[in-house]
Amino acid sequence: MLPNGFIDLHSHLLPGIDDGCASIDQSLACIEGLVAAGFVGSVCSPHVCVDCCSHNTPASIEVAVRELQREVDAAGLDYRLWSGAEVRLAPTTVEWFETHGVPTLGEGRYVLVDFWGGGWPDYCDAAIDYLQRNGYQPLLAHPARMSTEDDQLSAILVRLRVRGVKLQGNLRCLVGGEDGKLAKQRINRLLGEKHYFAVATDVHSPSCLPERLAGVELLRRDFGDAMLQTLLGDNPRAIVSAEAALAAV
Ligand SMILES: [Fe+2]
Repeated sequence: MLPNGFIDLHSHLLPGIDDGCASIDQSLACIEGLVAAGFVGSVCSPHVCVDCCSHNTPASIEVAVRELQREVDAAGLDYRLWSGAEVRLAPTTVEWFETHGVPTLGEGRYVLVDFWGGGWPDYCDAAIDYLQRNGYQPLLAHPARMSTEDDQLSAILVRLRVRGVKLQGNLRCLVGGEDGKLAKQRINRLLGEKHYFAVATDVHSPSCLPERLAGVELLRRDFGDAMLQTLLGDNPRAIVSAEAALAAV
C-alpha cells in the first residue's frame, strides 16, 4: 500500500533517455531529494516528440521504469515509480498514438500533453479529440510556460476547460526563476482562478530540484495546505491509481 505523501505526476527521472537525468546516480539523487520533501512516488514522463525523442514509446518507457525501480529498491529507497510520458502535440501525434499506443500516467486514463508553438493549431484539437473519443483524459502540462501571448492564452485555456482538458502546473513557475516573471504571474492567476487539477516538479536533474521544491512551500504559503494536498497529493494519487479524481481547485 502506498504511504501518504505527495506524488509527482511529471518528471524526467529516467536516466539517459531524454533531456532529463543523465545517469542513475542523478536519478537516485533526485529521488532522495523528493523523499526528503515528502514525496512517495513519481510518474516518469519522458518527452515523446517527433523532433527530439521519437525513440521513446510506451513499451520502451515501461522497460526503463522497471529498470530504475530496481535501482531504487536496491538503494533501499521506499519510492514508487509509474510509467508515463509528456507527449508533444504535433501534426503527427494521432498517427503516433495509432502506431505506438497511448502512454497514460500510471494506471489511469490521464495523458500528459504539452505544446510550445504559438496559438493552438487545429492538429492540437485533433489530438485532444482523439484522446477523448477513446476514453482518455488529456492533461495539459505547464500552460503558464507557453509562448502564446497572454490574451490569446487565456482564451485558449477557457476553451480547453470547456472541452474538459485539465491543467498541470509546474512548481518552479511559482518561484519564477528560469521560467520568468510572466510564468510566475500566470501560475498565480490560474491558481487563484482554481484552474489547475495538479501540480508537479517536472524535475530534470538534481541541480534544478531545489528551485522546483521551493514551489511547494510557496504554494502552501500563498494558497494553503488544503489546495497543496489536493494538487500534489489527492488528485495525483487518484490519477496514478485509476480512482475517481477530485475536482480542480
Ligand atoms: Fe516535462
